[in-house]
Amino acid sequence: MTLLSVEGLTIDLPGRQPGLVEDVSFQVSEGRSTALIGESGCGKTLTSMSILGLLPAAVRVTAGSVWFDGVDLLTCTPRQLRRIRGGPVGMVFQEPMSSLNPTMTVGDQIAEARRLHLGERRGAALARARELLERVGIPNAARRIGAYPHEMSGGMQQRVMIAAAIACEPKLVIADEPTTALDVTIQAEILALLRDLQRDLDLAVLLVTHDLGVVADFCDEVVVMYAGHIAERTTVDRLFYDPGHPYSSALLAAVPQSGQARSRLTVIPGRVPSAGGFPAGCRFEPRCAHAVEHCREPQPDALLGEGHRTRCGRVASGDLTLKGAGRG
Ligand SMILES: Nc1ncnc2c1ncn2[C@@H]1O[C@H](COP(=O)(O)OP(=O)(O)OP(=O)(O)O)[C@@H](O)[C@H]1O
Ligand SMILES: [Mg+2]
Repeated sequence: MTLLSVEGLTIDLPGRQPGLVEDVSFQVSEGRSTALIGESGCGKTLTSMSILGLLPAAVRVTAGSVWFDGVDLLTCTPRQLRRIRGGPVGMVFQEPMSSLNPTMTVGDQIAEARRLHLGERRGAALARARELLERVGIPNAARRIGAYPHEMSGGMQQRVMIAAAIACEPKLVIADEPTTALDVTIQAEILALLRDLQRDLDLAVLLVTHDLGVVADFCDEVVVMYAGHIAERTTVDRLFYDPGHPYSSALLAAVPQSGQARSRLTVIPGRVPSAGGFPAGCRFEPRCAHAVEHCREPQPDALLGEGHRTRCGRVASGDLTLKGAGRG
């Protein structure tokens, strides 16, 4: 069952820059984990922030729709959105300190969410907060419940953020690069925690990342964004074995194989164009190893197979077959 449905989403900087994100459509199913990937500046954060009305002040959704569990989110009032955020939809950001309240103990923050969203009384909410801190792997939860966020390490703060995100029994968690600010070993622990929670609580997760290794380990479906568009949408297995867009296969080629030194990483030559400088045709065409004349014309979003869409006309017409990488 589809839980979140984004259709034709377009995000502008009105009067200055149309089409930061353009015609973006994807779904997240109940209990499934969907990755939103792409290089820096492709529009992943704007897309995920727009879902719950958290876009930066000057930026606006100018077309499209976002439905969550039968509710049209783009027509919700700020008050209605606040009831959804931290309730049926939990959020985890890259910098835990940007969303934790520095003046409240971590226990009170989690308890407050349960009081606000579920109407629970303080004693019960605090008891549940302690259980949640235990569940996310915070040692001495009974004592740490009285700690302030700044008294904790970055990894522990991110665990608190995750506890807060799942505190009110959400159906969906949106996590935007939840581990990027952390040390590599801590990153792996936090991702393992998220994966366990996703399975145990039957959560749908929308995970924003630029790390294909994370996608392979964590996700069921994948949405590949390039320069404000969706390049490809498919299952993670199909992405790895049978990619449907040259940008996806270039990203796959950039993943270090086991045993290969990081310094030998193939990166995709060139840079992501910024809004205002998007090519008129395929936006990846200037960097694409498979580009032909026809690619300079606009490329419609095409169906390749069930649940598999691409914006590459060459792949869609069968003119180009791409090599997968396998899953490591
Ligand atoms: N507040 C803003 N005002 C103007 N432009 C913005 C704003 N926020 C983002 N943009 C532009 O929108 C585009 C998409 O940005 P976004 O932050 O969604 O990218 P991203 O895919 O999340 O990148 P990263 O991997 O670096 O987090 C970028 O070109 C960015 O410069
Ligand atoms: Mg981002």
